Formats: sequence, structure tokens, C-alpha cells
Amino acid sequence: MNSRQGVAGGGIAVLGISGRMGQALVRALQEPAAQALGLRLSGALASSGSPFLGQDAGAPSQAPVTGIAITADRAQALAGAAVAIDFTLPAALHANLAACVAVGVPVVVGTTGLDLPAENAMATAAVRIPVLHAPNMSLGVNLLLELVAQAAAALPADYDIEIFEAHHKHKLDAPSGTAVRLGQVAANARGSSLAASAVYVREGQTGARPPGAIGFATVRAGDIVGEHTVLFCGTGERLELGHRATDRLTFARGALRAAQWLAAERGPGLYSMRDVLGLGR
Ligand SMILES: NC(=O)c1ccc[n+]([C@@H]2O[C@H](COP(=O)([O-])OP(=O)(O)OC[C@H]3O[C@@H](n4cnc5c(N)ncnc54)[C@H](OP(=O)(O)O)[C@@H]3O)[C@@H](O)[C@H]2O)c1
Repeated sequence: MNSRQGVAGGGIAVLGISGRMGQALVRALQEPAAQALGLRLSGALASSGSPFLGQDAGAPSQAPVTGIAITADRAQALAGAAVAIDFTLPAALHANLAACVAVGVPVVVGTTGLDLPAENAMATAAVRIPVLHAPNMSLGVNLLLELVAQAAAALPADYDIEIFEAHHKHKLDAPSGTAVRLGQVAANARGSSLAASAVYVREGQTGARPPGAIGFATVRAGDIVGEHTVLFCGTGERLELGHRATDRLTFARGALRAAQWLAAERGPGLYSMRDVLGLGR
């Protein structure tokens, strides 16, 4: 299916259908707003060891029937798709990208915890197809990134930056992709890099805080959907910029918006939510 036909010319293949985000996408696609836009599920991929193979895509969370069966065959999952959305695991991303390139289907990648080879694989795929990577698909978080860049640039360098994030107990990577992105944005706004500034762990005799450090604190507990707060701590005052996601549907709706955007007349390339939201590059 050619990407230039837009989503209306095909469906949406969800890679990672049986997971938390895959099931949120099933529900988001059943909302009136998505139905009115003609968005529909066309394929559903899980791993070869999934207990849900052959079952309806809505079965893992008892969502209403979709009529699409879950498969571990990537070509089958992508058949008839105008665009794919990947919420799987970093280990599955290489094969998912290769399958999308093979059939020319644009892909929105929401999977986090990606290492450098995975980032490079996205860049390589983006030479052939449109690829959009967003560690956080929510509108609020993407605006938060803008606000953090502004605050980091505007406040004096002796305002210490700390990043707090909290997620549910099943999350596999830490700190979250969003926390890392917030750190990158803050460091870049101060003319530095996260690699030069990040302090991911503190334990024992750590010594005084190095100037310019960006510290991370992580909570994993219960069913927390996602919280991020960036602290700018001066002497005598503290600015806190934060975001709380209370429902995974917010990420799913953002992913559908990104998928629609990507499937409409985009050429090969690597895109981000900044492009979708018109915030510039
Ligand atoms: N960008 C965002 O806004 C955002 C928001 C939330 C989460 N995330 C990220 O999205 C990813 C998924 O999160 P989640 O909570 O949905 O995870 P999850 O519940 O563990 O689901 C993972 C999904 O990937 C499938 N999968 C695993 N290995 C696979 C393979 N080799 N081939 C094909 N499918 C495979 C699983 O299928 P089976 O287990 O059934 O085999 C399952 O459907 C994580 O990286 C998370 O951090 C991003």
C-alpha cells in the first residue's frame, strides 16, 4: 500500500497489539472521533510466543470485536496497511522496520528504551520509507518539551535541573524515553549535551552536586500511567514543570494522529511529534 494514499486508502497495522498500548489503540480506533475519520485496524502483530495468536485483536482486553485476527507473521500484519504503529520491544524493532521497508509501509515508532543500533536502524529505514519516532505521543508532553527548553535557556546556569519520572511496575526501561528526551532538550538549551550532564544514579558518598549536572529520579510502582516533572532549583525559589498522564488512551490518540499525519503525502525521512504538531524542527 502506497503511503501517499493516506490512511483512508488503507488501514492501520498495530505491531504489539496484545500489549497495554496495543489494546489502548484498539479502543482509540473504536472511538467516534477515529471512526468519523475512517481510521480502521487492518492488521495486528504479536510475538510468535503470544497466547493470543489467532484470536481477535480486541480479545486481550475484552474490547469489542474488531474482525482482525492476531498474527505473528509480519507480512500478513502489514497487508493492506497504509501505515503501521509499533509499540513492541526494542528487540523486535529491527524485524518490524525491515518488514515495513519491504512492503513500503510508513511506520510510527512509539517503542522506548532504544539503543544506538536501534536508532541507526530507524535512520536507515527512513531513507526508504517515512518513519516517525516519538518516545511520548501525548500533546501535553510535547508542549512540555518546548517549555523546558525555554526555561533552561532563560534561567541562569546555577538553577539546578533535576528530572523526576514515575511509571507502572511493568515498565522495562529506565529512565523513561520521555525523561531522557526532557534531559536532552534541557542540556541542549544550555549549550551542553545530556551525555556530558546526566547523573542517572546516586548512592553512598556521592560528593557535592557537580555544576551543570542534570539528575534523574525514577519511580516504578502500581499502575502509574506516566508522570514527568522537571525541577529548576535556584536559591530561594524552585520552578516545576510537569505532566501527568492518567489514561493510556492519550498516547493512543496521539499515535493515531501521528499515523494519519505520516500516511498523508510524506516522503521518506525521519520525523517526530514536533512535525505533527507543527512546532518546527
Ligand atoms: N511513545 C509513547 O507515547 C509510549 C507510551 C506508552 C508506552 N510506550 C512504550 O511502548 C512500548 C510498549 O509498551 P506496552 O506497555 O504496550 O508493552 P507490553 O504491554 O509489554 O506490550 C508489548 C507488545 O509487544 C509484543 N511483542 C513483544 N516481542 C515481540 C516480537 N518479537 N515480535 C512482535 N511483537 C512482539 C507483545 O506481544 P506478546 O507479548 O503477546 O507476544 C505485546 O503485544 C514500550 O517500549 C513502552 O515504553 C510508549
